[in-house]
Order: sequence, then structure tokens, then C-alpha cells
Amino acid sequence: MGQGGGHIPMFTEEKMNNLRIRKLTPKECWRLMGFDDEDFEKASEVNSNTQLYKQAGNSIVVNVLYRILENLIDKEEHIRILELFGGIGACSKALERLGIDYEIADYVEIDKYAVKSFNAMHDTKFKPQDICEWDKDIEVDLIMHGSPCQDFSLAGKQAGGDEGSGTRSSLMYETIRIVEKLKPKYVIWENVKNVISKKHKHNFDNYLERMEELGYTNYYQVLNAKDYGIPQNRERVFTISIKNDLEKGFIFTPKQELQLKLKDMLDDNVDEKYYLDHKWLNDIRYNNNTVCETRYDEGIRTFKNNICGSLRTIDACGNKCVIQIKNATKQGYLEATEGDGIDISSRMQYHRGNVQKDSIQTITTSGGNDRGVVVKNKIDLSCLD
Ligand SMILES: C[S@@+](CC[C@H](N)C(=O)[O-])C[C@H]1O[C@@H](n2cnc3c(N)ncnc32)[C@H](O)[C@@H]1O
Repeated sequence: MGQGGGHIPMFTEEKMNNLRIRKLTPKECWRLMGFDDEDFEKASEVNSNTQLYKQAGNSIVVNVLYRILENLIDKEEHIRILELFGGIGACSKALERLGIDYEIADYVEIDKYAVKSFNAMHDTKFKPQDICEWDKDIEVDLIMHGSPCQDFSLAGKQAGGDEGSGTRSSLMYETIRIVEKLKPKYVIWENVKNVISKKHKHNFDNYLERMEELGYTNYYQVLNAKDYGIPQNRERVFTISIKNDLEKGFIFTPKQELQLKLKDMLDDNVDEKYYLDHKWLNDIRYNNNTVCETRYDEGIRTFKNNICGSLRTIDACGNKCVIQIKNATKQGYLEATEGDGIDISSRMQYHRGNVQKDSIQTITTSGGNDRGVVVKNKIDLSCLD
């Protein structure tokens, strides 16, 4: 028999850890979108954290585009890309990473902060441009458009994207206007999964039909970032349109087993400001305790974690500690442990999958205010009586 018998064992500093929940930092959000730290550093010199979070949430996971482009473009091809709704340029980044000889023919993005990041990362000097006014006559091979998704998204008011409706999501029809004029070899469209839901499918189908009329063959699939190397549960519809006279087909890369865990994408030392305060914790925790499974006879042991006002679990012997996170099921909570992603947005307990094992929920434009992670910190002994 072990030391158990109702005693909390003697602690040494190395053995005393606490589980805490903290927000993801902007740099971690960028990593989880597949960007290198070098890209992030360049963007962070010209933009605030609020903008950096927004840009990550708006972007496309570079690794997913990499897998698409790898199957679409021959290594020897020279590619002139037109980035519409360009954001931070996930597609140009993927081309660069693939080692394809490419040039950015133009970049159309209305948001001046996104333009600043793009220029810093891609060493360009673009100015903000409104797609509705864009009418240049240039030669392009590839058009990438991750058109605005707010009005299709489940998270939005679902105003839709009907042509002429004036919604932001209806801007995808501007792309069709540009495709008709420039006739590129390839067009890639990315949008939220909800664009193929019953409510919005007519717009999606209309897009496919219009592209067919313009002489393209379409291939589409819902791809999840976690199947392409990134521990983020982010499902998006990717539509690849190839000009018929190229006589070229397309297949999507099969899913790959995830090797990376969320923990692998995190920094060890982050500023204390990223840790959730008591009020926030009370909103997301099921109760004020953290549960520790011990290897002693007493089985499950519950520790009060009100020491120093932080979420504190004492893991004296390498036992598994879990935090109970509110969840709108009969049980009332889901268990989370070190390295799990937590939805920390408002009304999170009503969101499906508000605890993700070793991965994170979809990164949103609010970044760290929506996405948290359970981390293990060494206990601050000065807090103990
Ligand atoms: C979902 S994001 C796409 C991000 C991009 N694909 C990336 O890799 O970062 C949509 C982008 O469209 C931009 N946008 C919205 N209205 C626009 C307009 N009228 N003209 C040009 N860009 C616009 C937004 O500022 C936003 O950055």
C-alpha cells in the first residue's frame, strides 16, 4: 500500500504543479494557422495584438493550401497569383513554401492593417484596394479568394450571400466578374462549411454553375486543418476550379494522421496577462475544484484550488489532474487536462466540443479571448501557508 490513508503526501517543489488555463497568444494563433514565427515577427512590428489575432482568425491554414497547390501546380510552372480578399496571404505563403516560382500580380484587400502585415511579410508595397472598384487588365494564372464568410457562418446572423444583396459574403460574385475578365488557369475559393448547408447551398451551387459557364471544371471538398498537420479543428470548404482547355484533373490529398499536439505549438513562458482571472475561471469551470486521480487507495481526490486565487491542482506524484469545464450535457461538465484546448468565449458551455483533446477549436478573429489552453505551471510555494 502507498502513503495514502487520507493524507496529502509531502510535496517537493519539483513535484508540485498546478493546472491553469490561459489564452493563446497571437504568435501561437499564427502558428496554428501554419505561419512561421518569422512571418509573425514581421507582422507584429507593424500591428497591434488585436489586429494580429483578427488576421490569424481570418486567414487560411497554410498547410492545407500547401497540400492543394502541391497537387494542382507543376513544380516547373511560373505562377502569377492574384490574391483577392488577400488578408495575410496564406496562398502566397504556401507557394513560397512549396518552392514554386511565383510572383504576386496583385493583392486586393480593403483592410489597411491586413495590408500592413502582408507588405511586412511578403516584402511588397501594396495599398488597400476595394474589390468592387478593382478592374485591372493583368495576366494571372491563379486567383485565390477566401471571400468574406460572416454572412454564411453559423457564428453570424446568416444574412446570406445572394448576388446584389449587399452583404459582405455576396462579394464572392465580384470574383466571378474578375474571373470572367482575366480567365486564369486556376481559381481557389475557400469559405466556411456552412456555405454548403441547406440555407446557403443555392449560392454555392450558383458559384459552381457560373464557373462552369465560364469554362471551368470544379472540385470541392470540406477539409479540416487537423487532417493536414495542424492541431486545430477548422473545417472549411475548398473549391478548386481548373480551366477546361488545360485538360487537367484534380484530386484532394488524403487525410494524414496528426503528429503534432497543441502542446507542441505553445511557448513555455508567456506573460501573466494571458492567464485567466478568477472571474473568467468562474464562468467556465463547473465547480471550484480540480480533480486529481491519485494512485493511493482513496482513488479520486478533490483539491480546493482557491490558494492565491488561481486555478490550482496539486499533482504530488505525477497523477492525472483534470479541470471540469462547464458543458451543457446531463453531466454538466467535460474534463480537461494539460494540453487540451478550451473554448473560453461567452456561452461556451453551449458550444459543441468546448474541450478538445490535444488540439484547439477553430481560431476566431477574437483569438485569445475565445481560445484557451490548459497548461501546467510550477506552483508558487510562497502562496502556501
Ligand atoms: C476571410 S478573410 C480572407 C483572408 C485571406 N484569405 C488570408 O489568407 O489571410 C476576408 C478578407 O476580405 C477583406 N475584404 C472585405 N471586404 C473587402 C472588399 N470590399 N475589398 C477587398 N477586400 C475586402 C477583409 O478585410 C478580409 O481580410
